[in-house]
Amino acid sequence: MRMASTDIKSVLVENRVFPPFADIEKNATISGMQAYDDLVKEAQQDPNEFWGRLAKEHLNWTTPFTQVLDESEAPFYKWFSDGELNVSANCLDRHLGTPTENKTAIIFETDDGKVLRVTYRELYDRVCEFANGLKALGYKKGDRAIIYLPMSIEAVVAMQACVRLGMIHSVVFGGFSSKSIHERLVDVGASLVITADEQMRGGKTIALKPAVDEAIATGGCQAVRHVVVYRRTGGNVQWHEGRDLWMHDVCQGQAGPCEPVPVNAEHPLFILYTSGSTGKPKGVQHASAGYLLWASLTVKWAFDAKESDVYWCTADVGWITGHTYIVYGPLAAGVTQVMFEGVPTYPNAGRFWEMIQRHEVSIFYTAPTAIRSLIKAAEAQPECHPRKYDLNSLRIIGSVGEPINPEAWMWYFKEVGRERCPILDTWWQTETGGHMITPLPGVTPLKPGSCTLPLPGIEMAIVDETGTDVKSGTGGFLVVKRPWPAMIRTIWGDPERFKKNYFPPEMKGYYLAGDGAQRDTDGYFWIMGRVDDVLNVSGHRLGTMEIESALVSHSLVAEAAVVGRPDDTTGEAIVAFVVLKRSLPEGDEAAKIAKELRDWVAKEIGPIAKPKDIRFGENLPKTRSGKIMRRLLRNVARGEEITQDVSTLENPTILDQLSQSV
Ligand code: WT7
Repeated sequence: MRMASTDIKSVLVENRVFPPFADIEKNATISGMQAYDDLVKEAQQDPNEFWGRLAKEHLNWTTPFTQVLDESEAPFYKWFSDGELNVSANCLDRHLGTPTENKTAIIFETDDGKVLRVTYRELYDRVCEFANGLKALGYKKGDRAIIYLPMSIEAVVAMQACVRLGMIHSVVFGGFSSKSIHERLVDVGASLVITADEQMRGGKTIALKPAVDEAIATGGCQAVRHVVVYRRTGGNVQWHEGRDLWMHDVCQGQAGPCEPVPVNAEHPLFILYTSGSTGKPKGVQHASAGYLLWASLTVKWAFDAKESDVYWCTADVGWITGHTYIVYGPLAAGVTQVMFEGVPTYPNAGRFWEMIQRHEVSIFYTAPTAIRSLIKAAEAQPECHPRKYDLNSLRIIGSVGEPINPEAWMWYFKEVGRERCPILDTWWQTETGGHMITPLPGVTPLKPGSCTLPLPGIEMAIVDETGTDVKSGTGGFLVVKRPWPAMIRTIWGDPERFKKNYFPPEMKGYYLAGDGAQRDTDGYFWIMGRVDDVLNVSGHRLGTMEIESALVSHSLVAEAAVVGRPDDTTGEAIVAFVVLKRSLPEGDEAAKIAKELRDWVAKEIGPIAKPKDIRFGENLPKTRSGKIMRRLLRNVARGEEITQDVSTLENPTILDQLSQSV
């Protein structure tokens, strides 16, 4: 682990502050700084009382809990652990007999623009029907299911049906290869796979079932009894008689209620794999009650979701954002949400803005990478610029997944939010279950590029390598000092790795997030990126994001990623991969622009931050979810052979371009 530091003038020192908008503050669930402070204080004074109160108010229990936090086996914390409930009942049944019953739960828009709607009642019926079908096949509490589905109402039905029976799901993102499916199938010991024939993205069909067939054929998956297939396109599939079943056949004749199976609060709800800094992906295990409490509460607190809102989170259900902020949080909160099958650039780069206009979306949640690529697209194709659309319905806009650089923040604020919507820059992780640090729309003055302040009950701190708090303005390790209900419970099948990774002995029992951060004098958090992405150049430490932010603030630059490369004289050298807003430069022109960018960075941060090597490409290597694959860039920067699985890359040819030094 390397530490972040601030001995270099940071582009993150932002002077712009945007106070909360009066109309939003007035009606917000948490309204005004005093209300926030009161909650923070309540949580500090008696955390058990605080979390116990919220768990009683926001969840329906079949057996009430008597103990809030059990620390007896720390860091394997347990929450509400003598209580029982069912998560699906808390997302669906709770709305029956209330005005929410007949409210639209999901407005689903397909890749080619068809719109399907289900009410809460209809979603309940469909979940019951499928759960009854699974039950008839002998599936029961504790069984594991791998879900490999495209964005669809069926994906929500499949996940909810599993948890209704007390089954544990592990969703594998549709962009992952059969190798990834196989690893997860074996690791969780799944007896059920739920998939689709094909998926539709950007006007193309992409087969899904063959990857499942291949994964199972690899071996070691004897536990798999059935593969249930949702027919999305009607494309050809190979059929394994006896093992494979159509989803509509499983549902056939199963109409009627399906009793939700009460489970212990700590019963595993799902396992979601995420990449660690080394080794194979970790199966992050979440527990039922604590996770759902936070999913639902943060939809109400951070998104300030109201009865009349139309909410849209653009994430895929294959990621934690899709779990918490599509499948669980919004349903538990009774929100109407938009769900989208396709990609932001099809049929053109105005798709998001057009959908916001069409469905009158009021809360919009997306990723900085999407924003940055849409900035670029809007410049190239003026007809796709958000200004061309009526976005008056928006009241809150959010960002998640990576630091949002101040320039992208300002564009999002001005061009999308029209300077009247707060941006929620939400910092959290797969492991945290839900938001941890985020502005609240009716409370927090915003600073572009800062995720601002922790949520009430969440005790974030920045510490040095001995676990001691650092002074404000000094970089350090981001930690969580106290357990919180939605925290990761363990790594599935590997409790030792869990302890070693997240609760290393030097951190005094704090949860180590793996990010570097600093706090300013207002107590605002500034995330500097993963600790392993922080560079040390000639004894000076630099956040890769700081350099990226500087590069992106240059008028020629659309996107940039910076990695470190071992260097004999300086320890580490900075390599910058840059996508320009213009066409790919060559020869002298490339050299000239590279020099201009180096000087620019020197001016923005300090000469030490000048990239040693600048590589231009038409794009950066990204996963289909849009995350920049930094590990791959480090390989490219070092001229190493690529050993990593690149099957999830959107654009593998880009690697060749980026291998060329200017
Ligand atoms: C890592 C977690 C959170 C759900 C999606 C990603 C980075 C996340 C922010 C933010 C700066 C952020 C962190 C974190 N990250 N949100 N608002 N500002 N960095 O979940 O795949 O588990 O990744 O994403 O580095 O550790 P994930």
